[in-house]
Amino acid sequence: MQMNRRDFVKGAALLVGTGQIASAQSKIPKLPIMPLTNLAKGIDQRIKLDLNSSNHNFGNGSLSPTYGINNSYLGPVLCVKKGQTLPFEITNNINEITTLHWHGLHVPGTVDGGPHQQIDPGKKWSPDVPIAQRASMNWFHSHAHGRTAKQVYKGLVGVMLIEDDESLSADLPKTYGIDDFTLVLQDKLFSETGKLVYKLSETILDDGLIGETLVVNGAIAPVVQSVPTGLVRLRILNASNANFLTLSMSKGPLNIIASDGGFLKSTVQADLIVMSPGERYEILVDMRMIDVNKLLVSYGLPEIGGITALLQEYNEKGLRNLIKKLWNEGEITVEAVTLNRTNTTGFDGSIPSSLANIPHPDLTNVSVTRSFELTQYTGADLSALAVARDTMCGNGTAMTINGKSMDMNRIDETVKKGDTEIWRITVDDWRHPFHVHGCSFRILSQEGKPPPTYAQGWKDMVHVDGELWSEILVRFDYSAPNTSPYMYHCHILEHEDCGMMGQFTVT
Ligand code: C2O
Ligand code: CU
Ligand code: CU
Repeated sequence: MQMNRRDFVKGAALLVGTGQIASAQSKIPKLPIMPLTNLAKGIDQRIKLDLNSSNHNFGNGSLSPTYGINNSYLGPVLCVKKGQTLPFEITNNINEITTLHWHGLHVPGTVDGGPHQQIDPGKKWSPDVPIAQRASMNWFHSHAHGRTAKQVYKGLVGVMLIEDDESLSADLPKTYGIDDFTLVLQDKLFSETGKLVYKLSETILDDGLIGETLVVNGAIAPVVQSVPTGLVRLRILNASNANFLTLSMSKGPLNIIASDGGFLKSTVQADLIVMSPGERYEILVDMRMIDVNKLLVSYGLPEIGGITALLQEYNEKGLRNLIKKLWNEGEITVEAVTLNRTNTTGFDGSIPSSLANIPHPDLTNVSVTRSFELTQYTGADLSALAVARDTMCGNGTAMTINGKSMDMNRIDETVKKGDTEIWRITVDDWRHPFHVHGCSFRILSQEGKPPPTYAQGWKDMVHVDGELWSEILVRFDYSAPNTSPYMYHCHILEHEDCGMMGQFTVT
C-alpha cells in the first residue's frame, strides 16, 4: 500500500507542476500582511475575537466558503508582552460548536481553550489568559473535538507573538510588515472551479489532508514582497492540517533564530528545516548583498486517481520534459515568498551569534517515564468512516494512543505539577507530529536520532516516525484539573479528530 501511494503521489506531481509554471509566468501577487493588533503597549478593553463564517478569495478569482477570526480567512497577529493578562471576548458566530486553543501557551487548563472549553453557536467565551512565558511565536486555533480538522482548514487560525524585555531590546528587525513578517503556510485542495474543498476520504483520514496548492497568509503561492536593504525576519508557522513542509532559501542557508518556544541558544545555519504541522521557526534573511531571495517550500502531494490519462494528455502537449524537472519523488517545490530588495535602508545590524541562555537538558531529576504508542486503522475501516462522516470526523475511534481513542470523559494520565518527566512516543506506521499542551519541552531524541540543531531549543512539537522512538523532557508548571484537562495528540488534525489524542491532568 505504501508503494502504491508513492506511485500515485508521483503522478499527481505532474498535474501540479504545470500549474506552478503557469502562475509563475503571470503577475505574482503581493504577500498579504495579516492585520497586527499590538497589545504590548497596554490593554484598555476586552480583546474581541469574532469567529465568523465568510467567503474568501485565495487569489484564484473564486470565492471559497471559509471561516475567519475578525477576518474573511485566518485571524489577526496579536502582539503581547510577557507579564500581561489578556482579557479575551471570543464570540462564536459560526453555525457549529467550536473552541479556541492557545497553542504553545503555558496557561492553566481552565483557559487553555481545548475541547472542554466549548463555545456554542451564538455564545461567548471570555477567558483571562495570563502570559508568563518568554518571547515566542504561538498560535491559536479551533480545537472542537471531531471538528478541528475542518475548522482549522476553513480558517480558524491566528497568531500570537509574545515579546519580553529581552526580545524587545534584542538587536533584530522588528518593524512589522516592513522587515518583520509573519508567514502562515498551509496546503490546500481547490476544486476545478477554484473553491476550497474539504471532504473526507479513506486517504484523507489515513494521511491527513494533503493539498496540492500552497497558501501563504491566505493567498495562493507564489507571493512577492519588497523589503529594505538589511536584515529581514520571517516568523513562520506551518498551519497545514497534515503536511510536513521543507523550507530552504534560493540563495544561501537559513539563519534560524527561534523555534516553537522562543530564541535558540545561538543562530543555527542550516540548508533546510523540516516543519511539521504546528511547528514555528524564525529565520533571518540578509538582504544587503543580494537583490532577490526566495523562501522555497517543498511538500508531498495528494493521491489523485486517473493519473495515466493526464500523463498522456501532457505528453501530447509536449510538456513532458518540463514536468519531469518539477517531478521530484512525489514532492513539489514552490517559490513561496520572493523577497525583492529596494533602495530603502532597513535594519543594518549583524546576524547575532548568541541569542539566549538555553541550558542543557537536565536528566538528573526525572521522576517518571511515560510511553505513548500511536496507531491508526487503515483500509476499509477508514473508507467506511469517511463515507459516514463526510466532512467531519466526529468523535472518531479509528486512531488510538496506547490502544485508546480519545474520550472526553476519560483522563488518561495524571501528572504532578513541577515534576520532570520523560515522554517516549512511538508509532506503528507513517510520520506523526506529536504535541503537548501547557508546556514547552526539550527533544532528547527525534525519530531515533538527536534532533537537528535547530530543534534543540524549546519546543512543543516533536516528529515521530516508525519504530524509532522520539523522547521529550517535559515539566508542567500550571494546573489542569479533571474538568479542564490538557491534551496530548498527533497534530495531523484528521488523526487527532479520529481519536489520536489523550487527556491528562496536572495537580
Ligand atoms: Cu495546536 Cu492541541 O493543538
Ligand atoms: Cu496546543
Ligand atoms: Cu498522526
